[in-house]
Amino acid sequence: SFILEKTVSLLCTPDGDSEAEEELVWLRNGAVVRLNEENRKGRSSVCISPIIHEDNEAVFTCHLSRNATVSASVTLNVTYHPQLSEAEQVEVEIESMLVLSCDIWANPQVSSILWTLNGSAVDLSASGFTMSSDGFTSQLTANTVERSLHEGTYECTAHFPLHGTISKVFQVTVTEKTMKFPLFPIIAGVVVVCLTAILAVVSRWKKIAKVTYKQ
Ligand SMILES: *[C@@H]1O[C@H](CO)[C@@H](O)[C@H](O)[C@H]1NC(C)=O
Ligand SMILES: *[C@@H]1O[C@H](CO)[C@@H](O)[C@H](O)[C@H]1NC(C)=O
Ligand SMILES: *[C@@H]1O[C@H](CO)[C@@H](O)[C@H](O)[C@H]1NC(C)=O
Repeated sequence: SFILEKTVSLLCTPDGDSEAEEELVWLRNGAVVRLNEENRKGRSSVCISPIIHEDNEAVFTCHLSRNATVSASVTLNVTYHPQLSEAEQVEVEIESMLVLSCDIWANPQVSSILWTLNGSAVDLSASGFTMSSDGFTSQLTANTVERSLHEGTYECTAHFPLHGTISKVFQVTVTEKTMKFPLFPIIAGVVVVCLTAILAVVSRWKKIAKVTYKQ
């Protein structure tokens, strides 16, 4: 298996003397790989640098230019796992929605995921939680947050066959509901205040001007 972000070089050397000067062709998932002139005869190599997620399960095939049935191929097995992440502080308003997400994208795939709240497994039935995983992230969701049920320290712990255990901690604080005003009345209000202030200054200035005139 190959490791993400490293470099791999694949070498193709047909056996048999007659094939020593044969022209070779490389394919990646059936598409021709462009090669330098001097890299086509007798022995040929392709270099993959850096290895990316998309290279996992990519099939590299090398065949004789004149006869594609004389070929060899390799399927890349790129192993990867989520990065360790720092603890996250989460603030959520009462009665709003809480969504916590953990990165679980790995090869080989995650074998188990556990969510805990204050050290005990999250009770999906009792506290309005739902859990979902799609191979990339695992999400814990509560639709209507209540402080007594949902505030505390969460942890998602994912176990990977090859990379061991990775976990992430969330410190969730439930805050009071804040009043949410629609945007338009605020803008209208500001305009009214500004206009009033400008009018006040203008009329004052008129008064002052009048006073000056009288003097
Ligand atoms: C890829 O390599 C890993 C580690 O050697 C192995 O556990 C896994 O089964 C391999 N996957 C495939 C599809 O061969
Ligand atoms: C291609 O090579 C295969 C295997 O060596 C051989 O059976 C076949 O006749 C060759 N085809 C051509 C067109 O040379
Ligand atoms: C979790 O522990 C904290 C601190 O002890 C506490 O304030 C909170 O209510 C607990 N949460 C739950 C859901 O029991």
